[in-house]
Amino acid sequence: MKTKILSTSEYDLVLAGEIIKSGGLVAFPTETVYGLGANAFDENAVKNIYLAKGRPSDNPLIVHVSKKEDITPLVKEITPKAKALIDAFFPAPLTVILPKSEMINNTVSGGLDTVAVRMPENETARRIIEFSGCPVAAPSANTSGLPSPTKAKYVMDDMMGKIDAIIDGGDCAFGVESTVITLATDVPVILRPGAVTKEMIENVIGEVEVSSAVLQGMKENETAASPGMKYKHYSPKAKVILVDADKKTYENFVNEQKNAFALCFEEDDIHIPKQTFGKESDDLSQAKELFDALRKLDEMGAEKVYARIPKTTGVAMAVYNRLIRAAAFHIIDLTKPFFIGLTGQTGAGKGYVGKYLEMLGFHVLDSDKYVKKIYENNPALLQKLAEEFGQDIIKDGILDRKALAKAAFSSKENTDKLNHIVHPEVISLCEKDAAGLTVLDAPQLFEAQAQNKCSKIISVTAPFETRLKRIMQRDDLTKEQALERMNAQFDEDYYINNSDFVIKNDGSDIKIQINKIMEDIL
Ligand code: TXA
Ligand code: MG
Repeated sequence: MKTKILSTSEYDLVLAGEIIKSGGLVAFPTETVYGLGANAFDENAVKNIYLAKGRPSDNPLIVHVSKKEDITPLVKEITPKAKALIDAFFPAPLTVILPKSEMINNTVSGGLDTVAVRMPENETARRIIEFSGCPVAAPSANTSGLPSPTKAKYVMDDMMGKIDAIIDGGDCAFGVESTVITLATDVPVILRPGAVTKEMIENVIGEVEVSSAVLQGMKENETAASPGMKYKHYSPKAKVILVDADKKTYENFVNEQKNAFALCFEEDDIHIPKQTFGKESDDLSQAKELFDALRKLDEMGAEKVYARIPKTTGVAMAVYNRLIRAAAFHIIDLTKPFFIGLTGQTGAGKGYVGKYLEMLGFHVLDSDKYVKKIYENNPALLQKLAEEFGQDIIKDGILDRKALAKAAFSSKENTDKLNHIVHPEVISLCEKDAAGLTVLDAPQLFEAQAQNKCSKIISVTAPFETRLKRIMQRDDLTKEQALERMNAQFDEDYYINNSDFVIKNDGSDIKIQINKIMEDIL
C-alpha cells in the first residue's frame, strides 16, 4: 500500500477525515503522541489497526471524540465522577474508562465490557475526528512494543506502506500518552499516569488509587486491569538499565562504563555517548523528550543504555512509568552500596575471580584485609572482646592477637562468638569504603549473614579433589588439616542455592563465565 504524507491544511484534514470514514487508517498528531486512527464503528477498519501495529487483539483501543456530547452514545452512563472529570479537563491528555454501550464492538474493547474515551486537546486531531463524522479508535501509531512516536518521522519509520496516510503535524507537545483512569470501579484507579496527574484529578473527584502495576509492573499470574500493562512496552532495541542514584553518583558510575550509552538529564556531566531527556528539575521537558531519546539511541546503535532515574510523583510519574518498562524493570540501586557478594568454598578459586574483576575495572574490597583493620582505633570493639575473652587479650590498650587467637579458637563455641563480634565490624568497614558498584570478596559471606547487604551474590565452586590439592599446597596443610577446614564450611549445594550466579572452576573457561555474569548483572 502507498502511504500518503499529508499536511495540516484544511484540504488534507478533510481528506484524512474521508479516509477514516470510508474504512482507512490515518496516523495523526495529538498533544500526547501520534495516534493511528480508524472509524471506531467499522470493525474491519479497527482490525486493520491491530494488524498494522502487530498488536495483541486483547489490548483495547481508546475511542477519540471531538465533542463532549459525542461521548454519551458510547457509554452506558456518564457517572457523576466521569462528568466532573470531563467538565474539568476535556479536551485533555486524559482518557476515562466507563462501561460501554451496545455501539462499541468487541474489537475496539478487546472483549472487555468497558470502553476508554478521550477528547484530545490538539486541534488537528479534533478537526480530523470532526471531518470523519465518527468516533475514532486510535492507539499510539508505533509498531507494538516500540516507543510511541512523538514526531511524524517515527510514524513513517514504523508505518510506511502499512496505512493509508500520515499527517505531519510536527512534534507532540506533551510527549507521553494520556493519563488513563477507570471509573468503572468503586474507587477510580489510574491505570496509566500522564500529563493530568493524580493530584489534579483528586482536586476534582477526591481520592483515587494508582494501580500497583504503574510503578512496579505486574506480578506473575496477576490479571491486568488494563491489558496494555502486561505487554512489553516502549522498548528500544538496546538493553536499558535504570540507575537509581543522585547526580554525582550517576555521573561517576556511567562515566566508567565501556561500550555503553547514557540516557541522562541535560545538566548531567557525561563523557560517554549519550542522549538527554529534559532537565532534572523540569518533568514536562522529560516527558516531551523521552520517547524521542529512546528512538535516537537505537539510531545511534546503542546496545546498552544506563538511564538516570526520574521522580515518581507528579508528571514525572508518567516518565518513570514509561522508562521502567523500557528497562523491563531492570534497576541498579546505587542509593545504598551496590554490593556484588563474591564468595565460595575454600580453594575454589575465588581469589582469581576477584583479581580478574579488579582487572576489568571493578571496585573490589577484600574482606580479609578488613579483618586486620577492624582493631585499629576501635576501643569499643576491644572492650567487647575483652568482656567475652578476658582482659588478658589487651596489653597497654592494644590487642594481643596471639592471646585472642588462643582464647577464641579454643572451641567451636568461642570461634562462633568471635565471628559474631568481628563479622559486623568487617562489613561496616567495607560499607564505608564502598563506592557505587562494589564487589565484596568475602569467603565468610554467608557465615557473616552479609547476604542481605548484597544486591547479587556470585559463588565460585570447584571439584572436591581440586580444592583439596589447592589448599594443601597454598596453605601448607596436611590432608587432615585441609579436610577439617573444608568440612567446617557449608557444602556446595548451600552455595549454589543461595547465590544468584555460580562460577564453575572446573576447567571450563572462567573468564567467559565472569564476563557473562557481569553482563547479566549490569
Ligand atoms: O495519549 C494517548 O492515549 C494515545 C493517543 C493516540 O491518544 N493513545 C494511546 O493508545 O496511548 P494505546 O492504545 O497505545 O494505549 C491505550 C491504553 C492501553 O494500555 C490499553 O490497554 C488501555 O489504554 N485501555 C484501553 N481501553 C481500556 C479498557 N476498556 N480497560 C482498561 N484499559 C484500557
Ligand atoms: Mg501504545
